[in-house]
Amino acid sequence: MKFFLDTANLNEIREGVSLGLVDGITTNPSLVAKEGGVDFKQHVVAICELVAGDVSAEVTSLDTEGMLSEGREYAAIAPNVVVKCPLTADGLRATRQLTSEGIRVNVTLCFSPAQAILAAKAGAAYISPFIGRLDDIGQNGLELVRDIVEIYNNYNWKTEVLAASIRHPIHVIETARAGADVATMPFKVMQQLIKHPLTDKGLDQFLADWRKSVSSKPDQNVNLLKEVVNVRQ
Ligand code: E4P
Repeated sequence: MKFFLDTANLNEIREGVSLGLVDGITTNPSLVAKEGGVDFKQHVVAICELVAGDVSAEVTSLDTEGMLSEGREYAAIAPNVVVKCPLTADGLRATRQLTSEGIRVNVTLCFSPAQAILAAKAGAAYISPFIGRLDDIGQNGLELVRDIVEIYNNYNWKTEVLAASIRHPIHVIETARAGADVATMPFKVMQQLIKHPLTDKGLDQFLADWRKSVSSKPDQNVNLLKEVVNVRQ
């Protein structure tokens, strides 16, 4: 399963990359707006310099022609740019055309299995079901991911299931159980995945015991230190 960061923040991307856990990036117009008036294309260039994996750049046109011209422009930025098109009739037309030109498309704002079927048939490289936003309106976002994985497996469709709108670690665990190809998450969720209070408590205990044993046997420790120095020389 691949891990993408769902952010346009360069510091978060740098930190995630330094953890060695980031396989790609998804952005959307709201995330880019949060970065405060950046030049979008320049910003995508900066992200692509930090990340070797796929970087989604979303179109903002509503008509097919506009999506095509934006999509071609974004795809020319770097080979790892994936154009993000919304799941509308125009978006599906643009997906089909861009795909036929060799440009990969992430179809976004997917909220039903029917929409996911259409995206696969249009040749999308990725389908992005939004888990959290479905949960927000009292529907089951994870159920949607499970349904899409099952349907795509029935036909061996190559469109990758990119679980999006992830709000907490349980979403990540459950999308992994469902067999999603990718989970895209805010940096905060990636950090939450690392943490467990028993890990911190266990580490504190190990170090406290270690310090106690070191201070109770000073001579032995001097000898140990000498051995380590010898081995390293
Ligand atoms: C995915 O590509 C979207 O950018 C994102 O996951 C949306 O998440 P949100 O519902 O938390 O805004």
